Amino acid sequence: MAKIVLVHSFRGGTGKSNTTANLATAIACTGQQVAVIDTDIQSPGIHILFGLEQDTPLKYTLNDYLWGNCAIEDAAYDVSPEAAKQNNGRVFLLPSSIEAEDMTRILHEGYDVRLLKNGFRSLVKALNLDYIFVDTHPGLNEETLLSIATANILVVILRPDRQDLQGTAVMVDLARQLKVPKMLIVVNRVLQDIDINAVRQQIESKYDVPVVGVLPNCDEMMRLGSSALFCLEYPDHPLTQEIKTVAQSVMT
Ligand SMILES: Nc1ncnc2c1ncn2[C@@H]1O[C@H](COP(=O)(O)OP(=O)(O)O)[C@@H](O)[C@H]1O
Ligand SMILES: [Mg+2]
Repeated sequence: MAKIVLVHSFRGGTGKSNTTANLATAIACTGQQVAVIDTDIQSPGIHILFGLEQDTPLKYTLNDYLWGNCAIEDAAYDVSPEAAKQNNGRVFLLPSSIEAEDMTRILHEGYDVRLLKNGFRSLVKALNLDYIFVDTHPGLNEETLLSIATANILVVILRPDRQDLQGTAVMVDLARQLKVPKMLIVVNRVLQDIDINAVRQQIESKYDVPVVGVLPNCDEMMRLGSSALFCLEYPDHPLTQEIKTVAQSVMT
């Protein structure tokens, strides 16, 4: 059975897109078939990490599927890195349109989450998927709430920041009410002189959710500036090791 993994954060800029892209890649490198769907329709960006620049408009994006213009698999692009292909793994990306007109249309009209849910099912069949990663828009809106309800696994990302901490409490409560089967927390951008175990314990006891990764804030990631996938550029970096640990927690 394919798993839907929703990656969410209460606030923007937490590293959600970078973490999603790297997690999906790490899992594909173990030989799995993975799709990444950009449902951050108001501020799409994860396509950049996979080198799908959208300089010339793509034939189909997720928007086209949501408007009934194509089958969902028509909006899937094979962006598999060599390291994944070598192990028979694949990464497919379903980008959101970066045309201003398309973004404002979705903002104005919203979209039908049931359509998205049915799309997940068709996509799993068409591409023989093991995992679908969903990069969401931060915060809570109706579509996100409904998407959370469709997830098998919710990965919540936060920084050690009091605004993130409070907002995350609201989200964790909601996800519990929506009975998400598995919830995991990843803390990102933790300063390197901070006691990682103390952070882990503090957050686990606050939310009663397992903290499966504490990712360091690092200059290399900032310098990369979303131009590539960190785990492929820095395979031996402690951040890559921690991403792989999170990947294991998602897969078990
Ligand atoms: N662990 C980290 N260390 C340093 N910079 C990071 C780290 N994680 C993310 N960033 C940077 O933070 C910015 C926002 O990341 P992004 O993944 O786009 O966040 P979001 O999708 O939550 O808005 C990017 O410039 C990214 O390079
Ligand atoms: Mg993002």
